[in-house]
Order: sequence, then C-alpha cells, then structure tokens
Amino acid sequence: MVSPVFIGRQDEMRALERLLDRAQARDAAFALIGGEAGVGKTRLARELGARAAGEGFCVLTGQCVELGAEGLPLAPLVDALRTLARTMPPDVLGGVLGPAAPGLSRLLPELAPLTAGSASGAALAAPAGEDMQKAQLLELVLGTLGRLSGVAPVLFTVEDVHWADRSTLDLTAFLIRSLRNARVLVVVTYRSDELHRRHPLRPLLTSWERDRSIDRIDLRRFDRDEVGAQLHAILGEVPGPAVTETVFDRSGGNAYLVEELAGTVKAHGDPADLPPSLADVLLSRVDALTPDAQKLLRTASVAGRAVPDRLLAEVAGLGENELFAALREAVENHLLVVAPDGQGYAFRHALTRDAVYEDMLPGERVRLHAAYGEALERDPGLAAGEAGQAGLATALAYHWYAALDLPRALPASIDAARYAMDSYAPAEALRHLERALEIWPRVTDAKQRTGLDRVEVSKRAGEAAYQSGALDRARSLLADAMAELPADADPVRRALLLERYAIVQRDSGATDEAAESLRQALGLLPAGETTRAHAALLAALANALMRNDDMEGCAEAARNAIAAARACGATGAEADASVTLGAAMAYLGTVDTGLDVLRFGLRLALETAATEGSYTALRAYVNLSDVLELLSQHAEAAQVAADGLKLAERVGSSRTLGCYLVGNRAEPLLRLGRWAEADRLIAEALADRPEGVFGATLHQLRAELAAMRGDYAEAGSELRAASQTFSHTVDPQFTQPLRYVAALIAVHQGDLTRARDAVATGIGDASEEWTSRYAWPVVWLAMRTEADDATRYRDRRDDVPAASTARCAELAGVAARLATTAPALAGYGQLVAAEHARAAGTATAAEWAAAVAAWRAAAEPYPLSYALLRLAEAHVTAGETAEAEAAVNEAHALAKRLGAAPVAGEAAALARRARLNLASADGQASGNAGQPIADSGPGDELARFGLTDREREVLLLVAAGRSNPEIAKALFISAKTASVHVSNILAKLGVSGRVEAAAVVHRLGQRG
Ligand SMILES: Nc1ncnc2c1ncn2[C@@H]1O[C@H](COP(=O)(O)OP(=O)(O)O)[C@@H](O)[C@H]1O
Ligand SMILES: [Mg+2]
Repeated sequence: MVSPVFIGRQDEMRALERLLDRAQARDAAFALIGGEAGVGKTRLARELGARAAGEGFCVLTGQCVELGAEGLPLAPLVDALRTLARTMPPDVLGGVLGPAAPGLSRLLPELAPLTAGSASGAALAAPAGEDMQKAQLLELVLGTLGRLSGVAPVLFTVEDVHWADRSTLDLTAFLIRSLRNARVLVVVTYRSDELHRRHPLRPLLTSWERDRSIDRIDLRRFDRDEVGAQLHAILGEVPGPAVTETVFDRSGGNAYLVEELAGTVKAHGDPADLPPSLADVLLSRVDALTPDAQKLLRTASVAGRAVPDRLLAEVAGLGENELFAALREAVENHLLVVAPDGQGYAFRHALTRDAVYEDMLPGERVRLHAAYGEALERDPGLAAGEAGQAGLATALAYHWYAALDLPRALPASIDAARYAMDSYAPAEALRHLERALEIWPRVTDAKQRTGLDRVEVSKRAGEAAYQSGALDRARSLLADAMAELPADADPVRRALLLERYAIVQRDSGATDEAAESLRQALGLLPAGETTRAHAALLAALANALMRNDDMEGCAEAARNAIAAARACGATGAEADASVTLGAAMAYLGTVDTGLDVLRFGLRLALETAATEGSYTALRAYVNLSDVLELLSQHAEAAQVAADGLKLAERVGSSRTLGCYLVGNRAEPLLRLGRWAEADRLIAEALADRPEGVFGATLHQLRAELAAMRGDYAEAGSELRAASQTFSHTVDPQFTQPLRYVAALIAVHQGDLTRARDAVATGIGDASEEWTSRYAWPVVWLAMRTEADDATRYRDRRDDVPAASTARCAELAGVAARLATTAPALAGYGQLVAAEHARAAGTATAAEWAAAVAAWRAAAEPYPLSYALLRLAEAHVTAGETAEAEAAVNEAHALAKRLGAAPVAGEAAALARRARLNLASADGQASGNAGQPIADSGPGDELARFGLTDREREVLLLVAAGRSNPEIAKALFISAKTASVHVSNILAKLGVSGRVEAAAVVHRLGQRG
C-alpha cells in the first residue's frame, strides 16, 4: 500500500540537504515542515533521516502524541533519549549525558545506571523535584545535545508539534533560540490544518517566521503526475488513466488518501464505487474487514495511536486465536503496523485512528474507556513498560475521565499531576490539577478518595502554575486556596499558603507586597512556640527584604530565622537564612563575621542539598564569591565562583544562577588584570545565550572591559544590551555599574557634559552605606569629571565656575559617607581625594602617591595604572624628573600589559611632552599612543591665546616634547629665534614652563 519509491519533493529535499551541510559546518540549523495530515511530512522527514544517517549523522526522532492516554509530558524528548540509550555504547553515552545524567534519568529511568558510576553525579543526588525548574531541564538537554554533536552531527526531528504539550513546546522553542555553533539540525513537523486561532503553536510559528535562520517548508499536495507515479509504484503497474483520474480527484493529491484509495482499487477494482467523503474512504477499508478485526480496531483506537499488545488483548475480549487472526488481518490490510518498539501495535496513520474513533457510538466509546481503566487498575503492568508509573497515571486519568467515571478520574488526575511535576512538566501537572478542581464538586467523597482537601489541590495547582512561569494564574489559584480555607482552619496552614503567595508576589516584582504578606503570615503563627513554619517564613522574609533593598531589616529577619530554625531543627531554613545573613552583614560592614556565616551557610546547604535541593547552595556560592570580591580577595573569590559553577552545571543552572557565578569569577580576574581570561569566560557563557538578568550581568562586565580598552563601539553596544534588561530595576548592583561604564566612555572621549549626566542620578542613589561598593566608582568618575573640567578652565586662563567648586564639595560629602572598609573601597577614597585636589588645582604628588599605594594594596592594576599616570604628571609639574619617569614608566607598562589603550596612550603622551624616557615605548606603544584621551576636545582652543602662525607651529613642536635646537632644525630657524618664540608663547599661555605648555596643548585637544 505504501510506495517504495520516494515521489517528488526535489526542491524540499535540496533545501533540507543544504541544512544538513550547514549543521555539519557547526552552524545549527532549523526547519519547519508544515502541511495537512497525510500530505507526506513524516515521509519527507524519514527520507531526510536516511540521507543524514548515510552522512554519519546521529538521527533522533521524537513523536508528539495527542493529549490523552499516551500524552506523556516531553514524549519526544523521551523518545530521543531512548534511542540514544539503545544505540550508543554505555561509555560513549555516559560521556554524552555527562552531568545531565541524574536529571534526565528522571524522564527515562533506564538512564539511571549511568548516573551511579559517573564522577559528576557522585557528590550530590539529583536535586529534589521543586528545585528542578523547567530552566534546568532545558539546559540539561542543551548541554547533552552539544556534547552529542561533538561525537557526531545530529538530526533531531520533533514530529507533530501541533499536539505537543507545553513543556515540549518550551523545549523546542528554547533549542531554536539557544543552539548556535553546534552540529545540529532540528526539524519540526506540524499539521497546518490543525492550528485553530488560539492554538499555542501559533505565536511560536509567528515568531519563527521572522527568524531568517529558520527554513520553512509548506508541503503541498501531489499533482496529477505525482499521484500517477505514486499509484504506479504502489500497484506495481501503470494505472489506467481513469483510475489515476479518479484517485487524483478523490484524494486531491493527499499522499495518504492516495494510498488508501489504491487499497480500495486493489480490493474492489472499480474506483467508481468509491464512497463520497474522506472519512468514508478511510472507513470503507475498515468496513471491508471481518467483525472481529473491526472490533479490534475500534478497541485499539480508544487507546490512542498506539497500544501495548497485552493491554489490547485484555480489553478486546477476544479469545487468543480470534485476537491473533484479527491482528493479522489489520496488519495485512495496512491499517495497523507493529509499533517501533515491537511491544504493541499502532495505526499506520493517525487519520485512520481518528476516523475509527469518531465513528464509534458514544456508548461504546465510554464503555471501552472504562474497560481500559479497569484493565490498567487490575494489572498496572499492562501499561507500556518504559513509560512506567508516569505513563500509567496519565493513562488512568485519561480513561476514567473519558469513561465519565469522575470518582476514579479525580484521584487519577492528582496522581498524574504528581508524576508530571517529577518529570519537569509543571504545565502538564497544572492541566491535571485544574481538571481535578473541575471534577471536585461532582465527587461526593472527594476527600476520602484523594486523601486531600480542595485547598491542598488548589495549592498544588498554584505551585505548578508558579513553576511553569504562569505567575498570574499561580496568584489566583493560591488566593483561591486561601479563600477556601475555613475560618477555623489551622492558622499555620494559612500562614504557609501566604508564604507561597508571597513568593509569587516577590517574583512578579511586588517585593513590598511580598514582605507584607510574609509579615502577615508570621502574625498568624502561634506566639510562644517556635515551629518550622516560623523558620521558613522568617527566612523568606529576610530574602524578600534583601531584594527590597532593606539590608538592616533583612539582617534582623535572618537572625530571627536562624534562631527559630535551630530551635526546631529546620536545617534547610537555617542554611537559607545564613546565606542571606552572611551577605547582609558583609554589606553592612561586619565583614569577617559575615564571611564566617556565609561559609557556614554554604556547608549546611551542601549537606542538605540531597533533600532540600541545590538552590540554597548555589546562592551561597554566589553570595560568598561576591563578598570575597567586595573584600578584594580576588583569587579566592574567583575560586569560590568556579566551585559554584561546577555545581550549577551539574544541576542544570548554568544559564541562570550560573551566569552570576561566571560574572563573579570574571570580575575578580578583571580586577586582577587578567582581562583575556575574563573575556573568554564571559564569551563562553554568552555563547549559550542566557536570558534576562542573567545575560545582562555579563554584557555589563563586557561593556566595562571594552571601555577600559578604549573600544567604545563595543562598549556602547554591550552597554545597550545590558540596559535593555535593567531599564526597570532600581537595584544598585545593576544600575550603578551601568552609569559608571557610560561615564567612563564619556570621560575618555572628553565629553564632560555627557559624563556628568551619566553619573548624576548615581550620586543621589549613593545614600545607603551598604551600597558603597557600587557607588564608589561612580563618585570617582564624577569627581574626575569635575577635575578635568576645572583643569580646562585653568588651561584657558578662565576662572573655575563656583558651581563646579560646589559640586566638588558635594561629592566630597557623599564620599565621606561611603564605606572604606575594604582595600578597593579605600582605593576609591584616595582617588576621589586626589581628584578633588586636582579640581582645586592643588594636587601634589603626595595625594596621588597615596592613591597609588592604596591600589597596590588592593592589587588592581587598572586603577593603579591611572593613579600612577597622575602621579607622574604631578612629579612633572614639580620638576621631579626621575620620579616622574619611574611613575610614567610603570603606568605605561601596566596599561600596555592590560590592553588599557587610553591610559597607555596618555602615559606615552606625557612621557613625550615631558621628555621622559619610556623604556617600553616602541613607537607604536599602544594603538593610539600620543593620542590624547580627550580626542574630541572643543574646536580650535589655541586661538584664544593670540598666537602668531609661527608661534603656533613652535608650540605644537613644544607639545611634542621637542627641544629648542630640534625646533630650530625642524623650522629652519636659529636656536636663538626658537628660544625667543618659546618665551613669548609661555607668556601668552600664562604658564611657567614648556612642559606645562605642552600639557595645556594636549588637554585642549590639539595634536602635537
Ligand atoms: N513523497 C512521497 N513518496 C511516496 N510516498 C509518500 C510520499 N509522501 C507521503 N507518502 C506516503 O503517504 C502516507 C502519508 O504520509 P505521511 O508522511 O505519513 O504524512 P503526514 O506525516 O504528513 O501526515 C505515508 O504512508 C507515506 O509513505
Ligand atoms: Mg506524520
């Protein structure tokens, strides 16, 4: 009945083969194949699979199934994993799964043995269900595909996504977004005629339509010639024109219908007798079978597209011989096929299954669903083996509901929800729980049957909604649960519901309301006794207050939480609160104890991770590395972050919390001057396309690096990438660094107005002492801007405006309130003091020497190189040539080593105009050596001094550090004349020496 020859589709195959080539070349590729049922999507995908396999691809196919008996969450992924498990040698498979093995074995238990022996899974068991959010699963799959594509290029086909569950859609969309430089081709097929207006696939298709990296193939029906060719291939002879004409006419060129019609033609010979409607065409082939075979097909259709053979035998109620005969008949007539796993049977095409199912009388359908329910309940082993408990629960929920047996459907739905939750499919769990809520009022003994009350079901539904990211739904479900709670209900229970509610509020951005709910919840708890509920609620409150920028309140709540947790042995809450408290203390200035508390929290979190999940441990690594960096313990901070990253990778959090850890590892490297390493880490993490705040923190670091390097185009674009995400946040750890980088670019470019604008709001935000760490760099640049500006006035022989002096005083006031409790903070304090003196025109080498010493202590070469540059400048002014030369050399060498082109350029320029020897200068010292930092200075600033043309020429040579004899030679004048010019110029500029004159020229933006 099936054409052994692949008909037509040349253009489509060519397009797909190009994608195979792309995938081979490490350019991950995607194709969407849409078309009506039976048109040939699967056949095309199979043909592609065969060609890919021939080219050495690893070919994986996952089938989405209509929600129902087989509607297991993430079924296509499970299919693909099963294929891998059965085709790969265990050691190769172990490597491919790597850290993902424990997590993925929750979906396919046969992967579990691989977990036991793997080194990565050793320290920690798979995290508890609640901890494993969707994001983690997605990441584990992405990692696995990446590693697999290292072994062989991969073709992953996801079939029939119009039936996909939410989790599968999320996974597909995620892979399309995130796969980049992997040898992978993802092919997605879907029925275009199934997409009603509110189908969840629609918005995804729309977004994919705009994506030029995705190929779309709309499969059309066969034309007359193709139908002729297909018939020829099926019948084994050239069909008569009348046959072709009728089959083409009746099938409309739909390949599946052509096959079915060919079957009728074969059986009856006369195509003119064909029944009128399409469903009738399909059914006419069923009707031609014996009654037993027909009954068998009807029974099978109730199970879905596929059914395990023992289950079918049980429900069909046929004797062994009759069953065997009926099965053979259905298979011989190409209506059923042996299922791919050999354990059962499947309809050759879903179209026939649907036609048979729809054709049944309602009473028979209900009776058969009940029969499946009974059979499965009697002997759970009848369910498809590998789908295990989850498959059984889902099947029972489906059949009892369709059998209208609500009392049994209710507990089955709740079971199915639990399994869905365990297999990373909160959206499907939500679906089951919402059904349970719908049935609930119709079942009189609902409580007895489920062992739960309605409040608990609503709460679980709220939890599932929360985990699937449906925050609004979560809120209403939890509110509903609270409303359902009788007035005399246990207040502790109400309090814990409020806690869940508060967490949803917090994550919806309503941190104030969240704290309020938690306080309210605490008020409900019985006074005079300390319970686990106290501990959990206080820990949650501490967390909410930290997010709400209330460090003092946070520390207090955390302390209370720890005390409560200890009193009742709630170790998880103790770990959670310790991690919060440690960070809060460190920020509030009690650093050493803060560090101890954090380390303690980390240890506790690691000890309890097996039961409580790894989230607290990850938070501990993030906070601890952050605090160590705050204390300028760069190397240790980087190490702690690296340890945390390993855990993040193992539990599938490297694209989320792991990004914070990448940032916390890159930042100390950046401060230590190991820019290339920091760069590489950030680039690797960004290549995985982390989303939202997680990616933004990395863009921010990259912007800072680029600004320090003087690569302003890159700095600007990275800054924009970060700002998009942070535009609504008020959290200083995100807002202040953005201002700092924007100001750094502006200062380097000499645009002082823009620099001032960039820092303006940041100064206002620097009010709280604990935010010092983020405020200091901003305050420094603000003062540096004022110093540059004041110097410009002096160079022009203008008065420094009073407003500028006032701003300096104001900034000094802000600085006086900031903490200097760590080396880097003290370093900024010295920089600000020295810049203040520079703004006042009183800076001496002493101020800059203090800044130099402070940055040496903090071990940060970048600000050190800047301070050295200013120190050299101050020595030059004081005529201390030897000291100036030492400082400028060190500044230049440091900046050059770092790749800090603007500072290196300034140092080289200073050396040249002050005639200092630069040991490391090689002419090309640093990309733009000799180019002033302020290279966009205002117009012709020298005009104001009334110089003659000749004097101007001489001045530019002075600015380039030339001596009088050199100038004389260059301009073909006598040395005496040159010297007279120089004296006149110094007088007109109002400066005391040629070095100062050179500095004025340089600062006013004239090239020497
Ligand atoms: N290009 C083709 N050449 C030969 N037979 C085809 C071709 N396309 C589809 N068919 C046959 O038509 C039937 C329906 O095709 P299928 O790929 O299952 O459709 P879809 O997946 O679009 O529902 C299958 O039995 C298939 O073998
Ligand atoms: Mg198909």
